[in-house]
Amino acid sequence: MDQNTLKQAAAMAALDYVQQDSIVGVGTGSTVAFFIQGLAPMRNRIRGAVSSSEDSSAKLKAAGIEVFDLNAVNQLDIYVDGADEITSHRHMIKGGGGALTREKIIAAVASKFICIIDETKQVDILGAFPLPVEVIPMARSYVARELVRLGGQPVWREGLVTDNGNLILDVHNLKILNPCELERQINQIAGVVCNGLFAQRGADVVITGTEQGPQISE
Ligand code: 5RP
Repeated sequence: MDQNTLKQAAAMAALDYVQQDSIVGVGTGSTVAFFIQGLAPMRNRIRGAVSSSEDSSAKLKAAGIEVFDLNAVNQLDIYVDGADEITSHRHMIKGGGGALTREKIIAAVASKFICIIDETKQVDILGAFPLPVEVIPMARSYVARELVRLGGQPVWREGLVTDNGNLILDVHNLKILNPCELERQINQIAGVVCNGLFAQRGADVVITGTEQGPQISE
């Protein structure tokens, strides 16, 4: 099976977690695109969605699903999103699509983070995938120097402006042995908006598309 088939299988399995008349938190990326496709026929059974990116909002609206402003929503049962890497402790690197800040905000609101992945995303140690860090434009060089002090090699993702009007530094060559601590340390650098470590608030449910079918770990 190819990677997309495995992503699709994980995304379809996540539909079982969608509650009648609920607002669904929806992430960003190719795995989530399959989830949105699966959600489309269910649109009359849900109230709508909140979305972590302009890209996903456009896909949701095209599927006939109402997109709510997060400020209008007090409570979210589930947030469904992919990951770039995930460990057995359900710590993740996210932000390959540049949507990490809105993803982290919606994940904070949701009662349950459901991570949908294909099996290539499972790792023992985070860091082979470059860690995305969203920065205020004027702080780019300063933040890059501080990230070097933390042992990484930041590379500016040139040409990308996030939905929030900021820039992304992708930090290479990190071997992340203590994800919660590194998440805290990077957040403390002035000019950092958010970093792609989702460790302090990891996933609650992981649905992995495998050759043997979707495997669910809760
Ligand atoms: C976007 C993300 C995505 O969840 C992550 O990049 C995985 O993407 P895909 O489902 O396309 O493999 O964090 O910012």
